[in-house]
Amino acid sequence: MHNIQPISSDLIYVGASDRRLALFENIYPIPRGISYNSYVMLDEKTALLDTADASVAEQFFENVAATLAGRTLDYLIINHMEPDHAALIASLLLRYPSATVVTTAKAAQMMEQFFGNKPAQLQLVKEGDTLSLGRHTLVFTMAPMVHWPEVMMTYDATDKTLFSADAFGTFGALSGNLYADEVNFEQEWLDDARRYFINIVGKYGLQVQNVLKKAATLDIRMICPLHGPVWRDNLTFFIGKHDIWSRYEPEDKGVVVIYASIYGHTEAAAMRLATLLGQRGVKDIKAYDASHTHVSTLVSECFRASHIVLASATYNNGLFTPMENLLADLKAHCWQQRTVALIENGSWAPQAAKLMRTELEQMKDITILGETTSIKSAATPEHEAQLNILADEIAKSL
Ligand code: FEO
Repeated sequence: MHNIQPISSDLIYVGASDRRLALFENIYPIPRGISYNSYVMLDEKTALLDTADASVAEQFFENVAATLAGRTLDYLIINHMEPDHAALIASLLLRYPSATVVTTAKAAQMMEQFFGNKPAQLQLVKEGDTLSLGRHTLVFTMAPMVHWPEVMMTYDATDKTLFSADAFGTFGALSGNLYADEVNFEQEWLDDARRYFINIVGKYGLQVQNVLKKAATLDIRMICPLHGPVWRDNLTFFIGKHDIWSRYEPEDKGVVVIYASIYGHTEAAAMRLATLLGQRGVKDIKAYDASHTHVSTLVSECFRASHIVLASATYNNGLFTPMENLLADLKAHCWQQRTVALIENGSWAPQAAKLMRTELEQMKDITILGETTSIKSAATPEHEAQLNILADEIAKSL
């Protein structure tokens, strides 16, 4: 059975959602699933904008066939070649062999890499090129590294719709509501949208800023991303979030406590500091056990908050592995402009603070606040006094 959703009289959603996949890109947990969005434009000429992931092939092809209703597919526009959108290109062209593939030169090269040859009918486009489908005029704008180098976006200058590729996407399957204004986005989707953005394209803040600058010159009334809901209302809210995220600025003034603790003593000190912060009026403190929270969530939370407490045990004369992984991932995502406080533990030779500090010093504009609290096995009344001083400093700097 098809499951298509009209967006307008001649723009149809033909994508599908997957709730079975555990790990997106075989690394990111997606308990709320994911959607692979694809759109058909029915004009004098017909166009399909991107395909979908292989996991939803059956639904996708049924949707495309139902939408075209016997018409020929004239154009297949490929904005992004990552297989979660491009896996079905070769199969689609077997079904619609007369379609001309419209894409960038880099994407065409990737098609050859993935499928062994380039499409028979290929139209390469570059910045500012246009394609008329009849009523609609499509304008192509390049968006390299958002999230791969071949990425472009397609702007429908007629209806003012931006087909934004991975940008403005989110984890989360669609559940009957296609539009962001039909769901409680801020409460139910924003955390996943942030985790998606930071982990997938967070490293490429500069390139995202370039895209946002280009977008600011366009009259955009609707954003159709490749994942998650379509935006037709309050676009500035979501564009604003992307602006903050890609500038690496904190979204919230607040504290996130992350501890990597082996037997619970490091955790106890970290949680004592959290309580002392709460007693000083700090609200909405979030605490995470790094051994039990996926690193993609930790990275996302470190991007959200202005102040981060990192508490780690020493392990094999190095950092306890969950903290080591977190710091490596933060560095890989160009995390910066934050205030950090450190707690370390080590029963005979504490090393964790020194090692955390070394990692943090390689990042841009990280302020390490106050004295490090250094515990040997378990915290003592002396540590309680140190944690009180640290809590004062954190609360003051918020
Ligand atoms: Fe959703 Fe970069 O692919």
